Amino acid sequence: MHTRLTELLEIEHPVMLAGMGGVSYHALVAAVSEAGGIGTLGASTMRPGQLPEEMQLVRSLTAKPFGVDLLTAFEGQVESGIQDVIDGGASIFVAGLGVPREVVDLLHSNNIIVGSMCGKVRHAVAAVTSGCDFVVAQGTEAGGHTGLVATMALVPQVVDAVGDKVPVVAAGGLFDGRGLAAALALGADGVWIGTRFIATPEAQAVNGYKDALLAALEDDTVISKSYTGKTCRVVRNDWTNHFERNPDELQKFPQQAFAAARAGVNHLGWPSGTDVDAAREFMPAGQGVGAINEITPAGDIVRSIVAEAEAVIDRLTAVTR
Ligand SMILES: Cc1cc2nc3c(=O)[nH]c(=O)nc-3n(C[C@H](O)[C@H](O)[C@H](O)COP(=O)(O)O)c2cc1C
Repeated sequence: MHTRLTELLEIEHPVMLAGMGGVSYHALVAAVSEAGGIGTLGASTMRPGQLPEEMQLVRSLTAKPFGVDLLTAFEGQVESGIQDVIDGGASIFVAGLGVPREVVDLLHSNNIIVGSMCGKVRHAVAAVTSGCDFVVAQGTEAGGHTGLVATMALVPQVVDAVGDKVPVVAAGGLFDGRGLAAALALGADGVWIGTRFIATPEAQAVNGYKDALLAALEDDTVISKSYTGKTCRVVRNDWTNHFERNPDELQKFPQQAFAAARAGVNHLGWPSGTDVDAAREFMPAGQGVGAINEITPAGDIVRSIVAEAEAVIDRLTAVTR
């Protein structure tokens, strides 16, 4: 499958592993890249010094391109991480919450392709104005920090606004080849998938997280500020229910994040095998979660997404004959 995205990133398949903080670490990133998509390290939850280690581990597992995602909400995170991104041999950098022009210029001068997460059309316009090479249009269905506009409505509007200048990647609630075919039909050049890749042997996750995803139905997630102070789609549980009933107890970002950490309900980024209280734990997940019924190797997911999308496109082509 060839799109502007596969050409830009020099990859085989237009399937990107989302840079999920705490989850998209070296084993998962390498597995997706090795299968012909592109893996993106989720560096936002990494401790100081961990990003270079993780990048080296990815390199030990694959010679194919990979990326790094950093949030820019935490002051100083991008500045300190960007040199690691350059030194560690990443092909792409994705900014979770906007990216300053000087950072884009620095990355470009080191031959690194820059993308930006966008939940609104104006975010995409600003990203392209800042020099970004592609944008990810992330709908509200997405796991993690998310906006209010749905993927189905957002993607074509972002395509109309910036699609003549840069490739647009669709995200939020996509989990299989039907989603990739639909994204292409909306004018996108590929998909950026998170939640589906958590239910893999390669994903880093505390005990109970993957099980919670296998058990969850499509309406078992909620957008809650209870873990970070920002709107974040997570598996609904006792902790989110408490703050839904008591919104006056919510603090602003980042105080709410500190409060959740103090309460022992946020172990995102902790090693696999960590025991947590699953009834209160921070488990970001998108609305596609109801479709996830088994743990599947990440490479198999990439291959089946592409095969299924090709079959869907063939079927649609036959309809018009
Ligand atoms: C566990 C988890 C952590 C995430 N962390 C980040 C992050 O650190 N930076 C970021 O840009 N997006 C983050 N996201 C959002 C993803 O990049 C992506 O947009 C989203 O997962 C796509 O929707 P889906 O989960 O329905 O596939 C995260 C999502 C999840 C599920």
